[in-house]
Amino acid sequence: MRKIVSIVGARPNFMKIAPLMQQARKRRNLNMRLVHTGQHYDFQMSQLFFQELHIPKPDIDLGVGSASHAVQTAEIMKGLEPVLQKERPDLVLVVGDVNSTLAGALTAAKLGIPVAHVEAGLRSFDRTMPEEINRVLTDSLADWLFTSEVGAAKNLLREGVARRKIFFVGNTMIDTLLRHRSKAGRSQVLVRLGLIAENGFHPPRRPAPPAKIKSTRPYALLTLHRPSNVDDPDVLGPILQALHQVSQDAPILFPIHPRTRRQIEIFGYSHYFSTHDRIGEHGLWMVEPLGYLDFACLMAKARLVLTDSGGIQEETTVLGVPCLTLRKNTERPITVTQGTNRVVGTDGNLIVKYSSAALQHGVRRRRLPKYWDGHAAERIIDVLCRALT
Ligand code: UD1
Repeated sequence: MRKIVSIVGARPNFMKIAPLMQQARKRRNLNMRLVHTGQHYDFQMSQLFFQELHIPKPDIDLGVGSASHAVQTAEIMKGLEPVLQKERPDLVLVVGDVNSTLAGALTAAKLGIPVAHVEAGLRSFDRTMPEEINRVLTDSLADWLFTSEVGAAKNLLREGVARRKIFFVGNTMIDTLLRHRSKAGRSQVLVRLGLIAENGFHPPRRPAPPAKIKSTRPYALLTLHRPSNVDDPDVLGPILQALHQVSQDAPILFPIHPRTRRQIEIFGYSHYFSTHDRIGEHGLWMVEPLGYLDFACLMAKARLVLTDSGGIQEETTVLGVPCLTLRKNTERPITVTQGTNRVVGTDGNLIVKYSSAALQHGVRRRRLPKYWDGHAAERIIDVLCRALT
């Protein structure tokens, strides 16, 4: 029996680990244990994803919580070291690019335990992004580097990673999206938010005509939480102002990350947001962070998605929804060259210009990136099983 310890901690890790846990359970000679670092801990940011994606309860929860990057990374390492010493796994598997990813890889490497990194080789070439530092360091420690898009191998080879360590397998986040897509389509979130209208748009209180076709009112969906966008009032202010202008054409729904909510309050930017109970015909609307199924449903039916997240650029590419990335760069260039993504930066005029164009003209033609086919986790577990036996 071979043992792998997998490490997760923050929201975007959970959809990447879910299909790997599922595949590992199918292999008779493999015992996959799960450690949750506790980097994210709110129910809506963590447990809800475990429930919806049927991820087994973590075997170990380090409960580190929020802190500065150095303290958070150090606390994870301190908690993880005795766990790995006791578990003595054949390898440690980490996913993505969050602090838990780096802390997991570093603790294992220091103990001489081989490391596998899922989503290796993505590069924004922007070292001011905490995730870029996590990516570069994790990849330099890893023994198996599983890449999700074709250009990632080139980045790794340039950094001196041996070719035999690199495996192009596809995207486990897309495995999860394809697996849960139809279930997400049955989410009641649009009804809850008052965005489903009978036979076209009717104001919410008008009685609905009987047995008419239901249609969704047009809306845009927004996520924003990168420190570079939300920690500086001079960056966040103009972004919100531009989004407020865009929202005069279609309401923008904003499931809000806890750190962004806090910054908006501190900077006094709450006046950009509408506050009625039901989503109106225009305006910027904050809603609580959503679970996986509700968010996937909102994304699939949106006219436009605006984001500074990484994974959402990939998911909108698969769903065929136009995506504007509110950053200066992307580590996922395939979403631009083959997908529906456009990197627009944080200039207010450009945000307004490209949003209006996307709301009017919809999506460019796209191609699905290679191996974004729902089988990435299977390929990864195949490689690891072969290597471990
Ligand atoms: C982390 C990842 C980022 C990822 C994001 C997804 C790093 C460096 N960053 O950023 O790559 O895109 O997760 O959400 O690992 N907070 C809560 N409840 C929680 C978690 C966080 O209230 O469950 C608040 C706390 O105030 C905390 C802040 O959010 O200080 C930031 O959390 P943190 O985990 O440090 O980074 P994220 O911004 O979530």
